[in-house]
Amino acid sequence: MNTLVFATNNLHKLEEVRAILGDRVHLLSLQEIHCLDDIPETADSVKGNALLKAQYVNKRYGFDCFADDTGLEVTALNGAPGVYSARYAGPLKSPEANRQKLLRELEGKDDRSARFRTVVALIRNGKEYFFEGIVNGKIIAEEKGSTGFGYDPVFVPEGYTQTFAELGMEIKNSVSHRAMAINKLKQFLDNIQ
Ligand code: IMP
Repeated sequence: MNTLVFATNNLHKLEEVRAILGDRVHLLSLQEIHCLDDIPETADSVKGNALLKAQYVNKRYGFDCFADDTGLEVTALNGAPGVYSARYAGPLKSPEANRQKLLRELEGKDDRSARFRTVVALIRNGKEYFFEGIVNGKIIAEEKGSTGFGYDPVFVPEGYTQTFAELGMEIKNSVSHRAMAINKLKQFLDNIQ
């Protein structure tokens, strides 16, 4: 079985990804390889940041590894917060403050359309591979729901009337940006085995 490190400290993401990849890979978190480092995310694109994280772990810890990076791209804000989604309201990376800033910026705007875009970067046997997932939707005017993380309480995916935070992990994993990218990774891993 392939051993792969998923370069994240986010337990929500880990749970989402474990549910999709199942037991086809032996998935290790950063904690499990004793990596407590604050991995730099200094690139100017989500693809660049995903690659930085995967390279960091691969070079220092020697494991085949994948990392994801996600941006929320809001049409009325010309694609912001995008690659800066985590730090939208400042360096503390507070999800609550980020959501509140987003709702303030969109006050009075008619176009509430937005999309999540995830890029997964995989480094396997020294080669780099990329997998992208996008989910379209809209930002509602107030927070709803209590599951998930980040911008989930304000994002309603296309085809639904509830936010990701109301829909829960099972439905989120059937339509989300990260699920789409991780499903592409899953297909890739199935094809090379
Ligand atoms: P990163 O990929 O962890 O760097 O995420 C960038 C920003 O997008 C952070 O503020 C996350 O909380 C947010 N984010 C990433 N994935 C999701 C998601 O699935 N739902 C809601 N917010 C997310």
